[in-house]
Amino acid sequence: MKWGVTKPRVYVTRLLPKEAMDRIHSHCDAKVWGGELSPPRDVLLRNVADVEGLVCLLTDRIDSMLMDRAPNMKVVSNYAVGFDNIDVTEATNRGILIGNTPDALTETTADFAFALIMSAARRIAEADSYVRGGKWHTWGPMLLLGRDVHNSTLGIIGLGRIGAAVARRARGFNMHILYSSRVRQRQHEQELGIEYAELDKVLAESDFITVHTTLSPGTHHLLSAKHFEKMKRTCILVNTARGPVVDNMALYDALRAGNILCAALDVTEPEPLPANHPLLTLNNMIVTPHIASASTATRRRMALIAADNLIAGLSGQLGPATVNPQALNKHSQA
Ligand code: DGY
Repeated sequence: MKWGVTKPRVYVTRLLPKEAMDRIHSHCDAKVWGGELSPPRDVLLRNVADVEGLVCLLTDRIDSMLMDRAPNMKVVSNYAVGFDNIDVTEATNRGILIGNTPDALTETTADFAFALIMSAARRIAEADSYVRGGKWHTWGPMLLLGRDVHNSTLGIIGLGRIGAAVARRARGFNMHILYSSRVRQRQHEQELGIEYAELDKVLAESDFITVHTTLSPGTHHLLSAKHFEKMKRTCILVNTARGPVVDNMALYDALRAGNILCAALDVTEPEPLPANHPLLTLNNMIVTPHIASASTATRRRMALIAADNLIAGLSGQLGPATVNPQALNKHSQA
């Protein structure tokens, strides 16, 4: 495809829902990577060379090397709420606005976290395989016994928007809810009837632990071997946040030794999890391919926000969700 002349040039690293693509095309001279996998690094680096804007996914690494190759870049619009794939400090220093897609996916992701809690507790994936495997011969008093979700204790690690949305669901199940978070959320405590606790107490007292913290150097392997030792042997761990928040090999050891009951992971380290990864040899583990936000309506909303962040950033404006509004100051100083 040839670049046009009047509209700002942008690169889009994956085909997004149509309405958003139409919006991008109507405002920009957009080149779109049509592959199912991320563009290879060299392709990405080549294609940002003369663009003013980039729409990327959490699988694209946006670092100083990429920014060096893109001297005209004004805005990077990430099609995700998380932005641990982007060096935001570096972008801000260069006056590059970073957009993300918060709010749009909160409820959908919370639905999925709760679905994993339910699936793991009631062994739904295992029961489905049991039937398909021809093992179902009769109704059995001890067949596939699970754990009750209602009236149990839920531990939430990271009480942002999604953690709070999970808490709202848990209230409907009459769960006692503990949370640990970088910042104590007293208003949520009152509104949701939840209790703040140190991480160790959350680990020791929860029947279910669900992870909703962002990934940063401070949360990398936040849950490691010593933390699994503190959990109940009946504890079920759910992660829909970022894989590296949990040390997967320590989790493997804990699951294998029966130190915790089960894990349900929508995110892993690495992603994708290779087919020969030790975790996949375990029966007390459910894994899904990072789809917690994957409903048709939510992905459409995310795409429209990503398009609007891009378009606003191209004209030096803040979009609906800008991670680093302070990057604009760089423009006024220039
Ligand atoms: C995000 O947005 O950060 C999710 O992980 C994917 O929707």
